[in-house]
Amino acid sequence: MALSNKTRNWLLFFSTVVVVFLLGMLASSIMDRKAESRFAYQPQVNIPAGEPRNAVWGKNFPRQYQSYMRTADTSFVSYQGGGNLRDILEENPRLVVLFAGYGFSKDYNQGRGHYYAIEDTRNSLRTGGPTGPGTGPMPSTCWTCKSPDVPRLMNEIGITEFYEGKWADKGPEVVNAIGCADCHDANTMSLRISRPALVEGLKAMGKDVNQATHQEMRSLVCAQCHVEYYFNKNLPGKEGAAYLVFPWKNGHSAEDMERYYDDMSFVDWTHPISKTPMLKAQHPDYEVYMTGVHAKRGVSCADCHMPYRTEGGQKFTDHHIQSPLNNVVNSCQVCHREETEDLVNDVYDRQQKFKSNLVTLEDLLVRAHIEAGKAWELGAGEDQMEPILKGIRHAQWRWDYVAATHGGSFHSPVEANRVVATGINLAQEARLKLSRLLAGLGWNKPVPYPDINTKEKAQAFVGLDMAKLEKEKEEFKKNIIPQWLEEAKNREASQPIEEVSLN
Ligand code: HEC
Ligand code: HEC
Ligand code: HEC
Ligand code: HEC
Repeated sequence: MALSNKTRNWLLFFSTVVVVFLLGMLASSIMDRKAESRFAYQPQVNIPAGEPRNAVWGKNFPRQYQSYMRTADTSFVSYQGGGNLRDILEENPRLVVLFAGYGFSKDYNQGRGHYYAIEDTRNSLRTGGPTGPGTGPMPSTCWTCKSPDVPRLMNEIGITEFYEGKWADKGPEVVNAIGCADCHDANTMSLRISRPALVEGLKAMGKDVNQATHQEMRSLVCAQCHVEYYFNKNLPGKEGAAYLVFPWKNGHSAEDMERYYDDMSFVDWTHPISKTPMLKAQHPDYEVYMTGVHAKRGVSCADCHMPYRTEGGQKFTDHHIQSPLNNVVNSCQVCHREETEDLVNDVYDRQQKFKSNLVTLEDLLVRAHIEAGKAWELGAGEDQMEPILKGIRHAQWRWDYVAATHGGSFHSPVEANRVVATGINLAQEARLKLSRLLAGLGWNKPVPYPDINTKEKAQAFVGLDMAKLEKEKEEFKKNIIPQWLEEAKNREASQPIEEVSLN
């Protein structure tokens, strides 16, 4: 049915009114947003170079600061990640035996978030119960990846000097959790590398950090801390310091770093049951990530862990660094069109398949340590044990390299599984040699597997006095931490914040 001319004119008139109205709304919203963004970037304070207090930076950059503060939220839980405090030893008591004789058998919680970096370090049983300066088990170097007070101190006292002395010595100095000055230059706000160990590690590989592209910097800021490292106590000219070194000279792979440590006969600790000269892997997150497909396609850590976010018409970098599974829309769906559920399942699928291989290797390693202990008990000789212990050393290194890598089974599933497979092979070979040796020593039956199905049983099995360790920690929290906080408060109060005059 044809419309009359009159109806058509009215329709045209009303649709024009609607369009004009919508255009007006759009224009006013654009103007609002422009005004707002100009307003948001009005600096409120002068930020001195290396300012360690995040709240001071927050005055000029409230959106980034507020999103950073959300790393305090520990409510998200995923299959293996999230911000909640997970007791890894409770979940997996085998690790108590694998780490026997080393701090990680006392206490091993999963990382929560940057906001907790200082608190979690103080509370961990691994840092012990210092009773004052010069006491406690850990060197000062342990603070290196925890706080923007670290580059401040390195600047004030020197890098080697920072690595000297005990962890407790710097307690009153290192109080601000990981933050702005770790990654930004206060003057230009561009990304910066504040940790010399990364600059030195890249240099050992023939790379110059100053040549890094902007996209590479969006991963390298994380590689300041999320990497494998060790403390070198014998660096020429730096004796007496536990100098932080990334063992990258031969490359990043498990084999490259293993060769690096073997060549210098480096030993983190001697396993009390098997007497193996052990290596402890830290968390080669960056190294493993770099072997995966996302890295190959030029995706950076920040793309998934610090995606853009829009608020009040303003696009900014979300500083709530966390599991990307808590934010699939911004973290993944900017590149992938699949549904959230599919993407999460892709991650879980890779993690779960990897986990089953990892557990196989853990079980073999526990057995190998205990069987080696039995061989010593029956009078095995050093020369007979040497090739076996080398196998255990390498197998556990391979296991730890990927087990301690946060997110590695998603970041690079093929490499993660490859490394575990080499570890399984090495552990099997060591056990084969052990069974031959044991038979030669007159032992022809399986060595019994201990009852270690809870953390408590496993800790008792390796001879830890947990009550004593916990008591020392409580005393430390009661007596020492309040002193540190008081000292830090007074020091920071003497550095007032300079407001920007508004004229
Ligand atoms: C393509 C996206 C992507 C990129 C790029 C990426 N990650 Fe991840 N990352 C993930 C996912 C997905 C997980 C698994 C989260 C989970 O299990 O809840 C994860 C886990 C982690 C975890 C453990 C977090 C947790 O809650 O358990 C850390 C730490 C981490 N990544 C650091 C890095 C670093 C450092 C880089 C760069 C070298 C990087 N990631 C690059 C997606 C990414
Ligand atoms: C100055 C050192 C440092 C820098 C730089 C750093 N991190 Fe971390 N990160 C840590 C420490 C330490 C923790 C553990 C904090 C805790 O739980 O107490 C952590 C925890 C995390 C976690 C959460 C928990 C987990 O399971 O490990 C993620 C995710 C993460 N970091 C990703 C990143 C990404 C991505 C970057 C770069 C954009 C980055 N970090 C830069 C030191 C650092
Ligand atoms: C772990 C490293 C890291 C930390 C810690 C960090 N940032 Fe960032 N920040 C980044 C990255 C990566 C970007 C994206 C930079 C780019 O791509 O140019 C960024 C971008 C920014 C920008 C540029 C605008 C934007 O949103 O993209 C500002 C401003 C900023 N950060 C402020 C802060 C403040 C304030 C803090 C402390 C509360 C902080 N940052 C802590 C890594 C960090
Ligand atoms: C900046 C873009 C980008 C982001 C962000 C991104 N991806 Fe990817 N993703 C890629 C590219 C590129 C590939 C390689 C496949 C290709 O070339 O088509 C890929 C491959 C994958 C694969 C298959 C490869 C493998 O390792 O098995 C999965 C699964 C995947 N992404 C999941 C995710 C998840 C989950 C997130 C969020 C946590 C995410 N991606 C974030 C770009 C991205």
